[in-house]
Amino acid sequence: MSDLFDFDRPARYAVMGNPIQHSKSPRIHTLFARQTGQNIEYSAIQVDPGGLEQAIGNFEGSGGKGLNITVPFKRTAWELMDRLSDRARLAEAVNTILFRKEGRYGDNTDGVGLVRDLRSNHGITLEGREILLLGAGGAARGVLGPLLAERPARLVIANRTPDKAYDLADRFGALGTVRGCGLPALEGQQFDLIINATAASLAGELPPLPPDLLKEGGSAYDMMYGAEPTPFLKWARQHGAASCMDGLGMLVEQAAESFSLWRNVRPETKPVIETIREEMKAS
Ligand code: ATR
Repeated sequence: MSDLFDFDRPARYAVMGNPIQHSKSPRIHTLFARQTGQNIEYSAIQVDPGGLEQAIGNFEGSGGKGLNITVPFKRTAWELMDRLSDRARLAEAVNTILFRKEGRYGDNTDGVGLVRDLRSNHGITLEGREILLLGAGGAARGVLGPLLAERPARLVIANRTPDKAYDLADRFGALGTVRGCGLPALEGQQFDLIINATAASLAGELPPLPPDLLKEGGSAYDMMYGAEPTPFLKWARQHGAASCMDGLGMLVEQAAESFSLWRNVRPETKPVIETIREEMKAS
């Protein structure tokens, strides 16, 4: 069919992951589209382990314009791209794909989403601050580049398995003052901001943390989110955090960055964060 007849058809996007049924991305992108007057359709596609390459090929082949990729496929997606943004190359993970004439372009908007949420939505300054990043898995790796670009005074990566923290610190060492350690080595240290990038909250757990880890007036951010505060944010509240933030803002901000890449229009995030927060509380 010619482009003339395709004119009124929505441009198709989707998020791929496993599990995917609780993904908030379709709702977020639908709200962005409504707000900006963009004619898009956004769905959630569950992909079986080992099935990502085929699923991406099918979506592209059927005329889809772009994809978000979520857990557990971000690293696999990184291997399947023709071209990568610098930040996706550094993160070794892709959460946003654009299908272009020249091929598949992979980007990673997670880190910039976190930084925007901290800075624009919560008014947190990162430059010159002492930051602790808990965890050394994919979630931590995805945000390290953009965090270091804000030029913190120092960034410590602490992980239950210390070797993974050392490896990440080595890999990102050229971008700023970054050091890796195990959790016991946090004893006696203090930070302005602690970011939880571990999967501990998912299991309702909390990494063992010294009680005086946060400086007075310090902030805590959990990349997880939910209707109730996560165990890490409860800990932070009990240990003097001046502000406790969950990852819902990061989710919406990374989505806005993807949407802008696809559609060349930047949606307003604040009303969308508020709507999703209200819907989460109500459900
Ligand atoms: P993701 O891609 O979401 O980061 P991942 O690569 O499995 O997932 O990494 C999970 C991270 O959470 C790791 O840093 C993990 O620590 P290990 O490297 O020691 O496994 C951390 N993690 C998970 N559960 C944890 C817990 N109960 N306490 C502390 N750290 C935990």
